[in-house]
Amino acid sequence: MSEGETIIIKGGRVVDPGQDLDMTADVVLADGVVKGIYGRRRTRESGTVIDATGLVVSPGFIDLHCHLREPGFEYKETIASGTLAAARGGFTAVCAMPNTNPVMDSRAVVDFVLERALSEGFVRVMAIGAVTRGSLGKQLSEMGELAQAGVVGFSDDGHPVSDDNMMRQALSYSTSLGLPIINHCEALDLSDGGDMNEGWVSNRLGLKGIPNSAEEAMVARDILLAETTGGRLHIAHASTAGTVEMVRRAKERGLSVTCEATPHHLTLGHEAVLGDRGDGGQFSPLTLAAYETNAKVAPPLRSQEDVDALVRGLADGTVDFIATDHAPHATIEKVSTFSEAANGISVLETALGSLMALVHEGKLPLPVLIERLTAAPANFLGVGLGSLKTGGPADVTIFDPDAEWVVDSTEFVSKGKNTPLDGATLKGRVVATIVGGAVRYDARESGSAG
Ligand code: DOR
Repeated sequence: MSEGETIIIKGGRVVDPGQDLDMTADVVLADGVVKGIYGRRRTRESGTVIDATGLVVSPGFIDLHCHLREPGFEYKETIASGTLAAARGGFTAVCAMPNTNPVMDSRAVVDFVLERALSEGFVRVMAIGAVTRGSLGKQLSEMGELAQAGVVGFSDDGHPVSDDNMMRQALSYSTSLGLPIINHCEALDLSDGGDMNEGWVSNRLGLKGIPNSAEEAMVARDILLAETTGGRLHIAHASTAGTVEMVRRAKERGLSVTCEATPHHLTLGHEAVLGDRGDGGQFSPLTLAAYETNAKVAPPLRSQEDVDALVRGLADGTVDFIATDHAPHATIEKVSTFSEAANGISVLETALGSLMALVHEGKLPLPVLIERLTAAPANFLGVGLGSLKTGGPADVTIFDPDAEWVVDSTEFVSKGKNTPLDGATLKGRVVATIVGGAVRYDARESGSAG
């Protein structure tokens, strides 16, 4: 289906927190935009019909943090495969992190990524520029040039901006450019080459632990610098209760501080490294599934107390939105000792199914989950996405909140099969993803009427 066609999404539960909407309705898309939402008086429009009875119809999900790996690491992912995975996961727009090769620290690389995304991408792609040249932390990148090239923020993700003065300067520039500095908060002296969260699992497995303070020390520094510079700070992949608390207090003081959490940090604890997908416990016997390198990620999966604090923070708005940190790696980079394995999880295709557990367990109302995947990241980016307002872009995600399915990573369209959820049963699955009025993913047949 091309973007010119009229599509009628019939009879679904339309949840659009951006306009405080939650009702059974028909959504009509035409010419790439939302033509209208029709409640009790159903539409008489004709066109291609998607029957959404029993399904949720939401604005397209927006992912502020993913790794598309192109240029340079096409063996892990390409813009084509990563954006196809995004479409399968219900994401209609993603922001690509700059840890490519070459690093996205110049207009030429940003242009390359954005142009390739237009010609080969399945969803919208925005670019995040590097804070420092080569993300090496020594010299600021040409932030002005990158802003002109259209980046939506700056980050050295994968690496922290360790140098205090570099971070201070970056935050100062961020005020004049009106763009956020997105920091991967990890005090390297404290993480000290550790493998996983410091706690009973690391003790039992004999792996070197990473304390919560490795994240929190840098979050504290960054909040201080955001206050003194007036800069705009965003904390990537928050993982600890202490981070949530510091962000809460910074917000109360009116600072320009935001943070995101990933589906895995919101739903999995460090027990995932035991390979038991959460149904184990302190006294479960060690099995051959332990040392699960697919659960190795930076920052590491933390304790249940941290997971609970992140979920509470997401519910009360301290955690501003969900971002996937989709980090695909080749299988060879995970088939190794735990210490040698690459950090990262392939997330785009499991994100909704993981997150719906929070709704099914009564920890998060569905409209709040959707807000954190749509209106909240859209507001953060300041782009006109994330809502089904009439006249706005026809970016729509349709999903079945109750469909159970078993994760089989060999079926991922992402090149990255690195998930600790392989074999897990998830409840909640994307049925169709529409970008600018064009169906980019459709899990089932759709009929015609009119
Ligand atoms: O686990 C991670 N993987 N965390 C990051 O911050 C970077 C990412 C990657 O690029 O693989």
